[in-house]
Amino acid sequence: MIEYIDEAPTLEEYKAMRKAVNFMLLSDRIAQNALNNAFHITTVRDDGKAIGMIRVLSDGSYANFITDVMVIPEYQHKGIGTEMMRRTVAYMKGTLEKGETIVLYLMSAIGKEPFYKQFGFRERPNEVWGAGMSQWISK
Ligand SMILES: CC(C)(COP(=O)(O)OP(=O)(O)OC[C@H]1O[C@@H](n2cnc3c(N)ncnc32)[C@H](O)[C@@H]1OP(=O)(O)O)[C@@H](O)C(=O)NCCC(=O)NCCS
Repeated sequence: MIEYIDEAPTLEEYKAMRKAVNFMLLSDRIAQNALNNAFHITTVRDDGKAIGMIRVLSDGSYANFITDVMVIPEYQHKGIGTEMMRRTVAYMKGTLEKGETIVLYLMSAIGKEPFYKQFGFRERPNEVWGAGMSQWISK
């Protein structure tokens, strides 16, 4: 049975899911802190097995970044990613009072832009906003 649970996966589950979708290898310290310090995490489980997750990083208010959107390959194309996104956007809307506005950011993987557009995200740059920018830093 597929369940959407608003709790972090374990460190081992997180690492296994990242590996399954070819995300960058993280040290245990970085990965554990990523789980501990997120604002909101949904883990998707099938009969208990962690098969997908989504994380929101936030100031708890205005600026909110959606990351680690992943469904392991065997479970992709079944609507699970869509449901994770739908729930997450709804959860963030639920933090608002009437008349308030906040922003949701995300960085799309190459080719996933259409997946995110259906939830109202707009590609950058556009006629109003400059490009999103990022860099990796290592030591
Ligand atoms: C991006 C990702 C999370 C999407 O998860 P998903 O569970 O496959 O998403 P969905 O099933 O809801 O939608 C994916 C596609 O399957 C289609 N689909 C949904 N339900 C379906 C069903 N029952 N049968 C067939 N196709 C279906 C959707 O229409 C969608 O098509 P599109 O890609 O042409 O828009 C997943 O592909 C993933 O983890 N990728 C690797 C990691 C990654 O790149 N993450 C994004 C980082 S920005």
